[in-house]
Amino acid sequence: MALFILGGVVVAVFFEVAHLAGATNALGNFDTTTGGEVEMFGAQALEGAGRNAMCRHEVRLPIRFVPATHTPCVRSLNEVNSVASRTPRSGAHRIAVIGGDGIGPEVIAEALKVVRAAGVELDTTFFDLGGARYLRDGEVLSDETLETLRGFDAILLGAVGTPGVPPGVIERGLLLKLRFSLDLYINQRPFAGTAPGHSKPHDFIVIRENTEGPYVGEGGVLRKGTAHEVATQGSVNSRHGVERCIRYAFELASKRERKHVTLVHKTNVLTFAGDLWQRTFDAVAAEYPKIATAYNHVDAACIYFVQDPHRYDVVVTDNLFGDILTDLGGAVSGGIGLASSANLNPARTGPSLFEPVHGSAPDIAGKGVANPVAAILSAALMLDHLGESKAADAIRAACAKPTSGSTIAVGDEICRRLHG
Ligand code: IPM
Ligand code: MN
Repeated sequence: MALFILGGVVVAVFFEVAHLAGATNALGNFDTTTGGEVEMFGAQALEGAGRNAMCRHEVRLPIRFVPATHTPCVRSLNEVNSVASRTPRSGAHRIAVIGGDGIGPEVIAEALKVVRAAGVELDTTFFDLGGARYLRDGEVLSDETLETLRGFDAILLGAVGTPGVPPGVIERGLLLKLRFSLDLYINQRPFAGTAPGHSKPHDFIVIRENTEGPYVGEGGVLRKGTAHEVATQGSVNSRHGVERCIRYAFELASKRERKHVTLVHKTNVLTFAGDLWQRTFDAVAAEYPKIATAYNHVDAACIYFVQDPHRYDVVVTDNLFGDILTDLGGAVSGGIGLASSANLNPARTGPSLFEPVHGSAPDIAGKGVANPVAAILSAALMLDHLGESKAADAIRAACAKPTSGSTIAVGDEICRRLHG
């Protein structure tokens, strides 16, 4: 019953997950309301998500840089804010900034600096959220803060996850709560680069469904800690959720040169969810006769991402496959330190959220060696969404050439390129 010990905020996480878990019974999986020792729904989900996030921290090497000598390597977000929050002009975009944990605040500080150097006015409000805040006073993301965030034009987030916080508390309670509550149903992750062993650059975009699949926390555990323990973790796929995601992928492809969409799933094993995805994909594809299509099983896609990434233009896939594939996408496109993402609410019923694909990398936090380019490119995606595509293109062009040095030195170099 660790959740009770952890206090009100975690109990709130439990309630959210328990609410979603109601779907379990409706779908006829297993009924946790009867008999047995019903351990909390969501406890397993918390553990799983966090462990995953920790693993991510261990593979952060590609985002290291050799720090420049002498100059301070890390500028605090507060310092940047005090420089940056001059009285905004009325046309300034209102941005909620969540630096988060580990290297998050460092890389976000550089992203804000670069956006301003590109001539875009931002009216920033900083939100102290993440693992450190949770350890201090138990706040993960209150409903009140969530309501405040709804009023912004966009949210820029660094990274979340802190050792010492029970796995998943921050991931589920902050990041996933934002994705679900703000209906950020598209996670768009562009990959442009030259994969190891290749000479020709690739350029593709993964569209990851962002509000369903195994991430909803459907499942439960019975007889925990006994030899007869049973744990389930379901994947929720709605026709509505799948169709709007696939439709987004086709719309995106129709604006791109190659006009090609690949569905990635595991239809040979996940025959219920896979069938829904495949039929929905086929139905939407029929409406876009000018767009060519393909299908790959996710295991095969892992090979192609490495051996033949040029075959892809737009890839559409479910939440968990998309999570895994996009780390691989980063690895074959210059490293995870360059991988950007947009969590989009295409209906624009609220703000969208922009964040680097990488994690909080606590092992290198505060050392000034984190690569800010993923955060800077995520800010460029934010500018696209805010109608500032010219500035976004300029930032992408400035990031195209390799950079080196400390976190701040890289940010400064990109600013110089923008001005030159
Ligand atoms: C990501 C991250 C998150 C995810 C974690 C931090 C919950 O890995 O954005 O890819 O799994 O979606
Ligand atoms: Mn991930």
